[in-house]
Amino acid sequence: RQPVDSPLYPLLAAAADYYRQALKSHATRKSAVEYLKGRGLSGVIARDFGLGFAPPGWDNLMKHLGGDALQQKALIDAGLLIENAENGKRYDRFRDRVMFPIRDSRGRVIAFGGRVLGDDKPKYLNSPETPVFHKGQELYGLYEARQANRDLDEIMVVEGYMDVIALAQQGLRNAVATLGTATSEEHLKRLFRIVPSVLFCFDGDAAGRKAAWRALEATLPNLQDGRRARFLFLPDGEDPDTLVRAEGTDAFRARIQQHSQPLADYFFQQLSDEADPRSLEGKAHLATLAAPLIEKIPGANLRALMRQRLTEITGLNGEALQHMAAAPTTTP
Ligand code: CTP
Ligand code: MN
Ligand code: MN
Ligand code: MN
Ligand code: MN
Repeated sequence: RQPVDSPLYPLLAAAADYYRQALKSHATRKSAVEYLKGRGLSGVIARDFGLGFAPPGWDNLMKHLGGDALQQKALIDAGLLIENAENGKRYDRFRDRVMFPIRDSRGRVIAFGGRVLGDDKPKYLNSPETPVFHKGQELYGLYEARQANRDLDEIMVVEGYMDVIALAQQGLRNAVATLGTATSEEHLKRLFRIVPSVLFCFDGDAAGRKAAWRALEATLPNLQDGRRARFLFLPDGEDPDTLVRAEGTDAFRARIQQHSQPLADYFFQQLSDEADPRSLEGKAHLATLAAPLIEKIPGANLRALMRQRLTEITGLNGEALQHMAAAPTTTP
């Protein structure tokens, strides 16, 4: 998936070193340190995730790594410098931000996310697509989760950098984030090669609920028998970071055990909200929505059980549903 070797890797590693060092010793580091402390992070977690600081100013990194024109061209390719198209001027992409290095499965730094220290916009700035960074394939925190536990049995998928890190800080070291993109079939394929169980835990807002349904759709084609996915929906306004810090590790673990919903339950509940199964019209609509999705499941047993469940809900028999499976589908 990634090039075996690229001159961008050592550059990205050197940039990560620079940002990490700046968090430790740059004259302007205080605001970043205070920010991270204010979000409840310890030095140990900052170290495990290689957190850093891009100091304010237009050319800190360029001065540190810049060198000749060739080197600057490589820094542009790595997404670290930006070249102004009109006047050709070059400047640091990341300025006055807390820096989150994104690592690939081997631990190599391939990109960065940078967060402003306050409420400015955009809140997060990410590396662009580069020869070593393909945003839709990467999962932030996967390398760190595997480092912390070689024998994971479940991975939690969350939305954000700080969700992953706050959970790790609270001892839940199995979270990964999709970096602001939708969960893809490719993501799920990777995760199920590592663990048999995936837990989705997105923000308690409209965007988070939408992300959950998209995650379900990406999961269906990856559901061999023996695999499972479940969903934990959070109270309105909470995300994993705010909630785990508010209620603590034990309560959060208990919440997972008591309130996470198996994929099949979420599936039928969501579709029943969309198409009310108390009326015949609703039943018909529900079957139209559900049948093609169920047919995406490769696990023969789960597929059969979900068809059976659909029959129980709608009264439509297996044969009628089979015919429908090819019908066009819409998502709630
Ligand atoms: N994101 C992004 N660019 C933005 C906003 C969000 O790339 N302008 C991505 C980031 O990976 C972010 C995730 O989407 O972590 C989730 O977004 P959001 O819930 O808005 O941010 P939080 O992670 O909750 O941010 P924080 O807690 O730091 O305020
Ligand atoms: Mn590639
Ligand atoms: Mn959000
Ligand atoms: Mn948050
Ligand atoms: Mn959030």
